[in-house]
Amino acid sequence: MQGRGKVFYRACGIRPGVDRGTRLGAKLLMLDVLESTNQSIRELALDGEHEGTVVVAEEQRAGRGRLGRGWSSPRGGLWFSVLLRPPVALSEAPKLPLMAGVAVARALKKHVGLDARLKWPNDVLVQGKKLCGILMESRSDGRLEYVILGIGINANFLISALPEPLRRTAITVREVLRRPVDRLALMRAILNELDAGYSAFCANDTGAIVAQWKELSETLGRKVRVETATGIVEGVAGDIDDRGALVVRTPDGPVTVDSGDCVHLR
Ligand code: BTN
Repeated sequence: MQGRGKVFYRACGIRPGVDRGTRLGAKLLMLDVLESTNQSIRELALDGEHEGTVVVAEEQRAGRGRLGRGWSSPRGGLWFSVLLRPPVALSEAPKLPLMAGVAVARALKKHVGLDARLKWPNDVLVQGKKLCGILMESRSDGRLEYVILGIGINANFLISALPEPLRRTAITVREVLRRPVDRLALMRAILNELDAGYSAFCANDTGAIVAQWKELSETLGRKVRVETATGIVEGVAGDIDDRGALVVRTPDGPVTVDSGDCVHLR
């Protein structure tokens, strides 16, 4: 794995094999500067790294976002990726980022009292602005070989550290709380929530994940415009189905959208 700065191998305060919160983050690699934690953990995955390993970086030089976009990752953020090897088919994978969104929102609520809401498919919003993005990348030959959940939280920097166009739509934990957050403790809280969600996922209890997502949703009931690979879908976000796809009520009837860029309209 390429990266600058010190490398630590550190147990995340979790005793492997004993409590809940055991599987994910038992091995935690902390680096100063990386291109992308998703890229680093992909290299580890291809080398046979075990499920549950986490890579976290202080700064990313080439952070990746959804839909081939970049992700601004200045110092002070919480940028990390988790390696999973779920024993399921590729078609099940889209529920994992939904599960991760729920885990982040719950941890933000429990750990720092933030009222975090979810925007389909997997943005975490606070005060209507983006605080966290989630990027899932995977490799499969029918059966999933690995899944990488990359989680980016605008934690302890000021919004001025982001490029101009993002400053209107993004928000940081530090600005909401008016103080910095303990990032390692927040990550541990997220990993504990992820661990519980992942257990439910592996036990095929995905109905619970979708139900939790709906409870935290900011999207359902809103007027939305979704840019998909095949065109724009505009209407009212009516539901997400049991696969995690968004059902939009349009003037021509319901349209189900598997993936795309969703904007909440006023
Ligand atoms: C999005 O576009 O909303 C998803 C952003 C995901 C960013 C995180 S930061 C940690 C991990 N490493 C990356 O390169 N991307 C993800």
